[in-house]
Amino acid sequence: MKNLILDKNCIVAVIGAGAMGSGIAQVAATAGHQVLLFDTRAEVVDKAIATLLITLNKLVEKQKITFEKADQIKNNIHPAYKLEDLKDADLVIEAIIEQLHVKQELFRNLEVIVSTNAILASNTSSLSVTAIAASCNNSSRVIGLHFFNPAPLMPLVEVIPAMQTDVNLPLQLKQLMLDWNKVPVLAKDTPGFIVNRVARPFYGEALRICEEGIADHATIDWALKEFGGFKMGPFELMDLIGNDINYTVTETVWTQCYFDPRYRPSIIQKRMVESNRLGRKVGKGYYDYEEGAINPEPNKDSILGKQIFDRVMVMLINEAADALHYKIASKEDIDLAMTKGVNYPKGLLKWADEIGIDSVVSHLNNLYEMYQEDRYRSNILLKQMANDNNKFF
Ligand SMILES: NC(=O)c1ccc[n+]([C@@H]2O[C@H](COP(=O)([O-])OP(=O)(O)OC[C@H]3O[C@@H](n4cnc5c(N)ncnc54)[C@H](O)[C@@H]3O)[C@@H](O)[C@H]2O)c1
Repeated sequence: MKNLILDKNCIVAVIGAGAMGSGIAQVAATAGHQVLLFDTRAEVVDKAIATLLITLNKLVEKQKITFEKADQIKNNIHPAYKLEDLKDADLVIEAIIEQLHVKQELFRNLEVIVSTNAILASNTSSLSVTAIAASCNNSSRVIGLHFFNPAPLMPLVEVIPAMQTDVNLPLQLKQLMLDWNKVPVLAKDTPGFIVNRVARPFYGEALRICEEGIADHATIDWALKEFGGFKMGPFELMDLIGNDINYTVTETVWTQCYFDPRYRPSIIQKRMVESNRLGRKVGKGYYDYEEGAINPEPNKDSILGKQIFDRVMVMLINEAADALHYKIASKEDIDLAMTKGVNYPKGLLKWADEIGIDSVVSHLNNLYEMYQEDRYRSNILLKQMANDNNKFF
């Protein structure tokens, strides 16, 4: 594959003008690229561009950007109404519906429209990049580029080479993401990549504690904020993300990991979705967001709170260690991903060093002994590190 120089002169095409695509288009245009924005629904493209203009005007009003910069960004974005309009694109970023066969069909059609050395990236959160790449004749130019929502504000981008991806492409895209003022991390093409896998216990263990009646959601949220310094508790965060979306991600990681009990979704989550308590977007989730609504007060018992925090924390650390053990990413990138992708106050592996690996392992062993469930097995790397008295950093 002929190497393309990825600089400001590259034309970027974004496919899918929804929540993610419109944000990615804004990021690329802000970085100085000419951007083509395409969606199968023309009205969605027009609406995304109109909304972007409003956003830019607000940013000028708040003096976050100059009038000239806003003007430049506006002039950099161009609507596209046919896939053929993307023929001159050097880099295409796909952000359409999360369905493998739809993405594969798009990549197949796209491949014959763009030039032979154009790069094709997917913003998929949960599908196999390797399976998407397999739809192309030249799959070496296909890669995952996973932005976080909202793309203009969240710094993290996971760069995910498929099995077939050209070896030079990940580094080229990492550099491009740095040029876009993003924080890129390199992740293996495995379910949930880094963030959506490592973060699972934040929700899953919180739900389990709630399910067992150890504490209610308000108390669990309080405990993680109070003792962990998290900006939001797991239930507050699930309400923000949307309980339907969170449930789907959990179920996808669980099934793709061949039903590993660590990722098993909770019945509570399922019932929340069934009862349309999807969170903030519908005004009701674990909390009631209607004006004047009364929500439960947490039980601020510090012994209980610390127990809750410790249990969720060791499960998170176990997951981060597992990701390192299975070479999903480097220890630096795992910590960077969690602080820059989901705003954790500290990287989990650095946190493990502070807590002490031996105490993390002994806590996991206690849980394992108590429940006799595979879910609580300690990762082998942690066990070895505890034996050798090692630290991650
Ligand atoms: N929403 C998030 O928090 C988030 C975060 C990271 C990654 N993602 C991923 O980004 C992608 C898009 O998610 P979203 O939340 O922006 O979805 P969205 O529903 O807001 O937007 C998707 C857009 O794609 C368009 N579309 C569907 N099929 C198409 C096709 N064949 N060709 C062109 N356009 C098509 C739709 O009309 C829609 O406007 C998904 O793969 C999702 O997993 C989402």
